[in-house]
Amino acid sequence: MEKKKITAIVLAAGKGNRMNTPVAKQFLILRDKPVLYYSLKAFEDSSVDEIILVTGSDQKEYCINNIIQPYQLNKVTQIVEGGKERYDSVYQALLHIEETDYVLIHDGARPFITKEFIEEMISQVIDHNACIFGTPVKETVKTVDSNRYITSTPNRNTMWLAQTPQAFSFEAIKKAYTIFYKENNKNQVAITDDAMVYETYLGKPVKMIPGDYRNIKITTPEDLTIAEAFLNKELSE
Ligand code: CTP
Ligand code: MG
Repeated sequence: MEKKKITAIVLAAGKGNRMNTPVAKQFLILRDKPVLYYSLKAFEDSSVDEIILVTGSDQKEYCINNIIQPYQLNKVTQIVEGGKERYDSVYQALLHIEETDYVLIHDGARPFITKEFIEEMISQVIDHNACIFGTPVKETVKTVDSNRYITSTPNRNTMWLAQTPQAFSFEAIKKAYTIFYKENNKNQVAITDDAMVYETYLGKPVKMIPGDYRNIKITTPEDLTIAEAFLNKELSE
């Protein structure tokens, strides 16, 4: 089998409203490095061929001077300006890719992705064409109405939390996003991950791959405490 070209898209164009710090959460310092450094480094050390970094136009310089150059992240071939919503940022990256076989789309706010999990995702996407990492929920999930009365309790065995990377055949995910933008119904469905675009607009299956409970998304202030604890544990091992 000929070697497949793999492109990583790392998203770092969010504002981090739920974290509510003056500096966007992907640039907060964890131990002595910016949050975004950790995932970029994992992709750099993996077998992916190139990394497309998506960030704000005013954050590009910071990324080059404080992350890419000092740590010699040579696989970062493009820095693309993101958009208003996460899906706009992903779409911008997809438009900037000329050709590749598979894309791994990753939240820059998930610093604990490892090279080993990236390799696992690469081999899974070659088998399944569309797959994501996730973990079984540990708690019981409820749905509620607008008055917060419970409307259902889904069977816990069927509930997984979606993580990233989410990986797809490049052609297929680009097609899904193109249909999504053409139908222009972005405001009716809240799109919160890439698998959702693929499921909804291509109608094809996406495989759930058991991921790592440590692969948290830094979202609210308490996540920083958890992240520090993970780093301390790694250091002591
Ligand atoms: N992201 C992005 N472009 C956007 C929104 C989000 O590239 N317009 C990125 C974020 O930088 C983050 C990832 O997508 O790495 C996951 O998004 P989320 O955790 O929601 O980050 P924010 O949107 O920044 O945070 P919040 O929703 O709390 O404002
Ligand atoms: Mg967000």
